[in-house]
Amino acid sequence: MENLIKDIDILPVEDAVASDFKTTQTESTGKSKKLYIESYGCAMNFSDSEIVASIMKDNGFDTTSDFYEADVIFLNTCSIREKAELTVRKRLTVFNKAKRKRPEITIGVLGCMAERLKEKLLEEEKAVDLVVGPDAYRDLPNLINIAEDGQKAVNTFLSREETYADIAPVRLNSNGVSAFISIMRGCDNMCSFCVVPFTRGRERSRDPFSIVKEAQELVNLGYKEVTLLGQNVDSYKWSQDENNKARLNKKEDETAEVINFANLLEMVAQVSPILRVRFSTSHPKDITDDVLHTIKKYENICKYIHLPVQSGNSRVLELMNRTYDRDWYLERVAKIREILGEECGISSDMITGFCSETEPEHQDTLTLMDLVKYDFSYMFYYSERPGTLAAKKYTDDIPLEVKKRRLAEVISKQSEIAFERNKLDLGKEQVILLEGTSKKSQEELKGRNSANKVVIVPSGNYSKGDYLKVRITNCTPATLFGEVLEVNPAHI
Ligand code: SAH
Ligand code: SF4
Ligand code: F3S
Repeated sequence: MENLIKDIDILPVEDAVASDFKTTQTESTGKSKKLYIESYGCAMNFSDSEIVASIMKDNGFDTTSDFYEADVIFLNTCSIREKAELTVRKRLTVFNKAKRKRPEITIGVLGCMAERLKEKLLEEEKAVDLVVGPDAYRDLPNLINIAEDGQKAVNTFLSREETYADIAPVRLNSNGVSAFISIMRGCDNMCSFCVVPFTRGRERSRDPFSIVKEAQELVNLGYKEVTLLGQNVDSYKWSQDENNKARLNKKEDETAEVINFANLLEMVAQVSPILRVRFSTSHPKDITDDVLHTIKKYENICKYIHLPVQSGNSRVLELMNRTYDRDWYLERVAKIREILGEECGISSDMITGFCSETEPEHQDTLTLMDLVKYDFSYMFYYSERPGTLAAKKYTDDIPLEVKKRRLAEVISKQSEIAFERNKLDLGKEQVILLEGTSKKSQEELKGRNSANKVVIVPSGNYSKGDYLKVRITNCTPATLFGEVLEVNPAHI
């Protein structure tokens, strides 16, 4: 069940603390001050924390994993569901106590909650000195100076251009094998339940040459896998406009070239044949056959697509403003199977108990799951977010017990299907990328196959970052177990 219950929002808040955020690792390069960051929410937020650490490093801060020795504490926060915000509020009470003992520490709230609540956060949370939105991180050194002078500061300006393309992230929490690369920011879709367009602003794509450069630098450092991140990677679009021409030193007469996601995938795949390329998140309305053919063409592009459906019912999808219906979604899945075959991993996000969802409409989600057969899913019950289209237009009328019961049904269905899917892998030969030791035992190692499934193998004379050809010998609904056949095989 490891994967199925990964998101803390389906656990009670009391159980959620300490398992639901990532902290900085200690990195001492002789700087005079220390920064501690906790990151909540999605991969984009974790990736942003690496940008923040980089900006802070250039301004005299090493990172620490111990907040008691930090001069500055940042919480990079998430607003996606109410519980995500409650977890941060609870955590702030701990830092509040720390600040009472050491009033000189600066506490900053960054990320989506900062953007959503702005100055209000300073009023509500007395320990907080800084409130900084996701597009304002370049201003951090200035804001820190203001805080060091004993004043409070807020910058929640949302940009139409900022992509932090020129900032080399400080890899936090890295296993040295796998890294995130942000390829775009913001979101222009207006899914009615979702707060992201309000907290992250307009969609903008990052210069592809800076993305390729970052991937190349990771390869030089020994990394073996990159995940290209965006809220909707399939709408990635970049052209050499005047600004970009100037930045890239291009000649005036060069024709404008538009680079889409399929082109970008191809560019990153060509960086190194032993660099695995993943990406997230794909939107069902935008994923093209071109992208699917590019995935097929390159062995090092992983055969795995995170394609959140949210609901299996067309009326609910319309209320959610997802702009596709059940049939469209099923056609996209059929296309994935046609081009990439049965072995391509597909995962989803699902929301139960959205405004006015009836029992038969909920059943449609369950039947869609039976048709698609997701390898895994992140599953949530609907949490109304202030300011969203749904909060303005619809009534949050499904009782909490019903939302939770429907969620339990979806989780149980997913577990059944994942087990079924994993059993199909038994006896197969697959290549995994080793990430380190298994959480449960030092005697076992953990890797991932192309379809993003965790595969556990017995320890041996291998190191993380090795590719291993394995045969799958056993499975649970969440994990595959294998025996090693070959180290660093010719094909990955
Ligand atoms: N950009 C991605 C999703 C980012 S948010 C996409 O479009 O698929 C991650 C997931 O959180 C969403 O897919 C959705 O399932 C869930 N989510 C978003 N808002 C929610 C809300 N108000 N209540 C419950 N779940 C929500
Ligand atoms: Fe939210 Fe929809 Fe954008 Fe995803 S695509 S971030 S769910 S608005
Ligand atoms: Fe949360 Fe913001 Fe990501 S709301 S899910 S941290 S984009």
